[in-house]
Amino acid sequence: MRGAVALLVLLLCPSGTWTQGESGGDRESLVESHGTEDTETTSKQTTGQTITTPDIWGEVEELRDMVDNLGTVVLEQRQKLRNMEKQVERRWREKRSRGAEARLESENAAMGARLSASEREVEELQRMNAALEARVTDSENGNTALEARLNASEGMVEKLRRENADRPKVAFSAGLTNDGHVGPFNSITTLVYRRVITNIGKAYNPNTGVFTAPVRGLYYIRFTAMGLKGPQSIGAYIYHNDKSVMFNHQNNDNGRNRFLSNALTLELEAGDVVYMRLPVNQELYDEKSSNYSTFSGFLLFPM
Ligand SMILES: *[C@@H]1O[C@H](CO)[C@@H](O)[C@H](O)[C@H]1NC(C)=O
Ligand SMILES: *[C@@H]1O[C@H](CO)[C@@H](O)[C@H](O)[C@H]1NC(C)=O
Repeated sequence: MRGAVALLVLLLCPSGTWTQGESGGDRESLVESHGTEDTETTSKQTTGQTITTPDIWGEVEELRDMVDNLGTVVLEQRQKLRNMEKQVERRWREKRSRGAEARLESENAAMGARLSASEREVEELQRMNAALEARVTDSENGNTALEARLNASEGMVEKLRRENADRPKVAFSAGLTNDGHVGPFNSITTLVYRRVITNIGKAYNPNTGVFTAPVRGLYYIRFTAMGLKGPQSIGAYIYHNDKSVMFNHQNNDNGRNRFLSNALTLELEAGDVVYMRLPVNQELYDEKSSNYSTFSGFLLFPM
């Protein structure tokens, strides 16, 4: 404040000097120029003093006013300064926030880029997932198809297994005798093959020599006949029920081992019979140790 007053004084001085110079140092003119009221009051108070006194008070008064004004100005300036400071601070804040904004923007941009990359990755993963799902689905469908085929195959296997289990098993083989010569006889004679080698299904009767078909089907029937004595013909019939279906014979002039052998397949109804017969005046030979003369048959398949 004191500085301000000094400044004011300095500012005022040239004016005072100028006034003084103008009036040639005449104080009256100075007083007049400042109004009469103040001058009268001052002159009353300072009766007997020099004429310069009221002027000083006036100046002081004026100075006070000016100081007051200046104080106001200072306050205003201070206010302005404060405002400016605030403004500067605001601007600084704004600038800083703009910096922060820029930083945030660049961070945002970076994050945006990362997000985009992540999204692309997610999309790629989703695509891969979808592809995998499709493959899994294909696989599952394939599995289902395979399972269906497997089921069908298993069903078929089971069916075949049952059919096989249920299929009649029929097979027999028998040697004619343990006792050597059979025949000759005066009439056709049914041959009874007494030495059973195989008789699955017990369809062959070793007491009668007759095979009875247990089911309708195709049967394979065969025989081997041997003659040892000579001169003597050997021969054999195969009978299906009451009819001969095969007759084979051979002359044995020198009495060496002679063999006849043949086979056929027969369609038999269930209950049909098949057996061998020895022609009139012919002879066969067999012994346990050799199985020279045999009668065999088996079911090929039911029909
Ligand atoms: C296969 O058989 C199993 C057992 O019977 C059954 O559960 C399944 O559904 C079948 N699958 C198909 C594809 O038919
Ligand atoms: C003839 O068949 C019987 C009964 O199967 C058997 O014991 C025997 O060894 C057979 N004979 C020969 C020479 O194979």
